[in-house]
Amino acid sequence: MWTADLPPVKWVAKEHIAVLGAGLMGHSIAYVFAANGHLVSVTDPDPGALASLNNRVDGIFELLEQDRTGAGTGTIIAAKSLNDAVADADIVIEAAPEKLELKQSIFDQLIKETKPGCILASNTSGLPIGQIAAKAAEPERIVGTHFWNPPHLVPLVEVIQGAKTSLSVVEKMIKILTALGKTAVHAKRDIPGFIGNRMQHALKREAIALVESGVCDAETVDLVVKEGFGQRLSVMGPLENSDLVGLNLTLDIHEFLLSDLDASETPQRLLRDKVMAGELGMSTGKGFRSWTPSQAENARTSMQNHLVQAAKDRLKKRKN
Ligand SMILES: NC(=O)c1ccc[n+]([C@@H]2O[C@H](COP(=O)([O-])OP(=O)(O)OC[C@H]3O[C@@H](n4cnc5c(N)ncnc54)[C@H](O)[C@@H]3O)[C@@H](O)[C@H]2O)c1
Repeated sequence: MWTADLPPVKWVAKEHIAVLGAGLMGHSIAYVFAANGHLVSVTDPDPGALASLNNRVDGIFELLEQDRTGAGTGTIIAAKSLNDAVADADIVIEAAPEKLELKQSIFDQLIKETKPGCILASNTSGLPIGQIAAKAAEPERIVGTHFWNPPHLVPLVEVIQGAKTSLSVVEKMIKILTALGKTAVHAKRDIPGFIGNRMQHALKREAIALVESGVCDAETVDLVVKEGFGQRLSVMGPLENSDLVGLNLTLDIHEFLLSDLDASETPQRLLRDKVMAGELGMSTGKGFRSWTPSQAENARTSMQNHLVQAAKDRLKKRKN
C-alpha cells in the first residue's frame, strides 16, 4: 500500500516522467521535463499525435534557441500503450481531453499500473481534482498540475490539492516544478477555475458588461487594459498594487464600486448571442472585434514574440 508520507527529498535525481496525451499541452509539458534532463515517455491513442511528437518538440527547442542534443537534455520516448509509458514512471502527468469520465477511468487505471509512490497529476483546466480521483483507489496520490498554455513559454503552474490529496504529494510536486524553472503555486482548495482563471474570468465578465451596457466598445476595453493597469500587471500583482496605493484607498473605492460591478451568475447575453451567430473570434473573422486574416496573424505573432522573448530571458537568467 502506498504511503502518503514521503520522506523529504532534496531534488537531485532525474525522474522518469510519463505524459498521457501528445496534444497541444502534452508535447509542450514533455519538452519542459526533457529540457531539464528527465526521461519522458509519452503515450497517445492517436498514432499521428505520437508520430509527430518529437518533431513538434524539436520546434520548441529551435524556437527557444536551445540545443536538444546538448549534455543534460533528457530523452522523449513515444510509448505505444499507457502501460508501457507509466510502468516505470515516478510521476505521471495526464494531458488527455477535458472529459470527466475519460479522466476518471485513466486515473483508476493509473493507480493499478504505476509503482507505489508514483505521483499522479492531472493537467485539467477546470475539472475538480476530487471528481477526477473519485473512482481511484488511492486519491491521496492524485494532484492537479495546471500548466498555463503554452507550458514551454508561460512559467506558472497551479498545483491543486484535492480534498484527499496528500500534502506531501503537493509539496513534492511543487519542488519538482520549481527545479524545472516553473513558478509553482499551491491552490489549497479544489475550487472551479483554481486561482488564475477565477481572476481572468472575473475581469472578462466586467469587460463584457461594459460593452453590453454601452459604456464603451470592445476596442476601448482592450486599450484601457493594455495602456493602463495592464502595463503594471506583470511586475506588480493586484494585491501588491493595493499595498502600494494604500489599503485605505482600496477600501474607500470598494465601498462605492463593488455594488455597481457586474455580478451575472450565468454567461451574459452578448457572449451567448455572438456564439449563436458563429462569431467566435479570430477563427471566424469576427468576435467582440473584427479580424482580417492578417490582423489575426499579427496579433498572434505579437503575443508569441512577447512570450518567447520573456522565456528566453528567463532561460538566460537560470544559466547565469
Ligand atoms: N489548451 C489549453 O489552453 C489548456 C490549458 C491548460 C490546461 N489544458 C488541459 O490540458 C488537457 C489537454 O488539453 P490539450 O489542449 O492538450 O488537448 P488536445 O486535444 O490538444 O490533446 C489531447 C490529446 O490527448 C489524446 N488522448 C485522447 N484520449 C487519451 C487517453 N485515453 N490517453 C492519453 N491521451 C489521450 C488525444 O489523442 C490528443 O492528442 C485538457 O484537460 C485541457 O483542459 C488545456
